Amino acid sequence: MPAESSKLLDGKRLALQIQEELTTQIQTLQAEIGRPPGLAVLMVGDNPASAAYVRNKERACERVGIASFGHHFPTEVTFDEVKQTIHNLNANPEVDGILVQLPLPPHLDATALLYEIDPDKDVDGLHPLNLGRLVRGEPGLRSCTPAGVMRLLAAYDVELQGKHAVVIGRSILVGKPVSLMLLAANATVTMAHSRTPDLAAVTRTADILVTAVGQPGLITAEMVKPGAVVIDVGINRKEVEGKACLVGDVDFASVQPHSSLITPVPGGVGPMTVSLLLGNTVWSYKQRRKASYNS
Ligand code: GUN
Repeated sequence: MPAESSKLLDGKRLALQIQEELTTQIQTLQAEIGRPPGLAVLMVGDNPASAAYVRNKERACERVGIASFGHHFPTEVTFDEVKQTIHNLNANPEVDGILVQLPLPPHLDATALLYEIDPDKDVDGLHPLNLGRLVRGEPGLRSCTPAGVMRLLAAYDVELQGKHAVVIGRSILVGKPVSLMLLAANATVTMAHSRTPDLAAVTRTADILVTAVGQPGLITAEMVKPGAVVIDVGINRKEVEGKACLVGDVDFASVQPHSSLITPVPGGVGPMTVSLLLGNTVWSYKQRRKASYNS
């Protein structure tokens, strides 16, 4: 495949377009419901990467008209204090979405805290009930990054039915849910991971290759089938010529000429995550309105 036929999957542009659509929707719904949608992002400690993600989410909320109910706890906060805050937010009728920014400090059990979130406000889609709904193919809140990958593929009309999708990485945040979503779209899915022997032999069979590992330069040109669609979910901080920058798991310069479509890093999957989070919050807001009509 010649270099010039390889196109970028522009997540930045699509994410902004989704935010514009949400802004209009919120303006209409707010007039009817009498309040804006509300999102609570809970953060513990001062991990700089997490702080940047949280700021990003709160700014995006402000842009589209979602009210923020965030809490920023000191590192030494106890499990019970965070749990009590989650319970208060579960009971707050102005809050439609609750998200606990991960990772948490080691003394806090993240899985146990996720169980405390009302599944109908779990805009991260990480509560076991929502993961169960995904496994069963039932409607429900879906994790934002995997949903962002699917939205990007749909926006560029990538055919999934009958195609071979290879997902590298088996995390609960990305690898497992995106595999289930691709399966639901009738792709044949292979899940590869750190113990997969001869990874290149597997990736070379992929029509759609999704990598969510966190290892810069893992995927090189020889590992990609000519004409494949390549989705890079990795976000790695790296110093290049003394300057901090973000790179994915894919060696972009060598892989781009082999692929038909490829996500850049930054500007690919990353911006989609925030827009899908806002979308989930609005979905939950609308569900809550339906529930109040029916009660
Ligand atoms: N940290 C990195 N990615 C995510 C995410 O998608 N959700 C949460 N809650 N924390 C994260």
